[in-house]
Amino acid sequence: MTAVAADRNDYDLFGEDYVANPAETWARFREECPIAHSTEYGGSWLPVRYDDVVAAARDIDTFVSGQGVSVLKVANLKDSGILSAGAPPISVDPPMHGWTRRLMLASMSPKSVLSYEPGTRDLCRRLMAEITSKGHGDAAVDYAQQLPVRVIGALMGIPEEDSDMFVGWVRAILEFAFDVDGRAAAIGELIEYMQGQVADRRLNPGDDILSHLVTVEVEGEPVPEDVILGEAALLLVAGVDTTWSAIGSSLYHLASNPHDRRRVVAEPELLDSFIEEVLRFYSPVTMGRTAVTDTELAGCPMSEGDRVLMNFPGANRDPDHFEDSDSFIIDRARNRHLAFGVGIHRCAGSNLARMEMRVALEEWLAAIPEFELADPSAVTWAGGQVRGPRSVPVKF
Ligand code: HEM
Repeated sequence: MTAVAADRNDYDLFGEDYVANPAETWARFREECPIAHSTEYGGSWLPVRYDDVVAAARDIDTFVSGQGVSVLKVANLKDSGILSAGAPPISVDPPMHGWTRRLMLASMSPKSVLSYEPGTRDLCRRLMAEITSKGHGDAAVDYAQQLPVRVIGALMGIPEEDSDMFVGWVRAILEFAFDVDGRAAAIGELIEYMQGQVADRRLNPGDDILSHLVTVEVEGEPVPEDVILGEAALLLVAGVDTTWSAIGSSLYHLASNPHDRRRVVAEPELLDSFIEEVLRFYSPVTMGRTAVTDTELAGCPMSEGDRVLMNFPGANRDPDHFEDSDSFIIDRARNRHLAFGVGIHRCAGSNLARMEMRVALEEWLAAIPEFELADPSAVTWAGGQVRGPRSVPVKF
């Protein structure tokens, strides 16, 4: 894939330059376009201003989710032939969106999330014990990557030893999405795995999310099998890479900014605003929509069938909405960021994600308050739909 496009208004979400420093590209587009177009991966539009992203995300009649939400025009879960609705609620529009979203909200409420905190803390402590006993570690690989997959797996009643498999599938679906065959194979394997898990819960229901989905009724009817499988696949795909990226970005920031690290350690009451600023500054998630009619966004004409990217990360750097938008301000007072999206598809797992970030950081800082990058040139980032550090070797 090309990293540098011929047209100045072109962009490549998977390209080296964009992944390394997307804010530079957004700032230029904000001045020059402000809605950029790329011919890569089937073509797409990229709004960069906060108001334009909000307007597009809220216009659910024009910019729909039901024709794929990937940043690429690639096969989605619907094309598997097994999941007719894809991965609801993210892949569907009203009216199906409402009831499929409600199916998972109870498991993600603040009260439910509080009950997942002790298990998450135990897991963090186990991982920290391994890292401190080794005397060095990779904050992304040994810690951030290990957490969300095990937390969401436990909520779904899935054995911990299967987590490495999930990481492989999630990376193939999001990070390496441009490898179309690898992505399709990962989707097939994930669905097959979930079919086994769902069959098991029908025989042995417990108190996990999958058991809830197989036993709950919607207007007196059981939930169709393909909706259960789609929701299960979504929880894994949406809950893993995103949160791992956010935890990894937090630790990358603390490892490379000693002043901020010492402040968070000395003033733990700053942890919540630190987390919100990480979500704004290092926003991991960009989503896709499809225009279902010829239309325009901020005066930019678009055609039916065009893909439009919900550039939540770019919106979060808009200087019209955030003072000194390209600076990381640990105690930023006004921070209405869009890292979790906006409108009907706003993240259903935001309570869980924030809890995981907080507990992960509390436990890391309790065990290793002083640390720094072992070698800044060894840090690597993943881009595309979910941007975040994939390797952050640290010394302490
Ligand atoms: C820091 C971590 C996370 C970030 C930044 C994030 C971001 C997002 C964003 C931007 C959306 C909107 C998608 C759209 O507009 O098309 C979304 C949707 C969603 N997220 Fe998250 N997410 C995170 C963690 C999680 C977790 C831990 C879960 C659950 C396990 C989760 C479950 C979902 C679901 C189910 C949706 C679809 C909601 C709907 O379509 O109604 N997310 N997320």
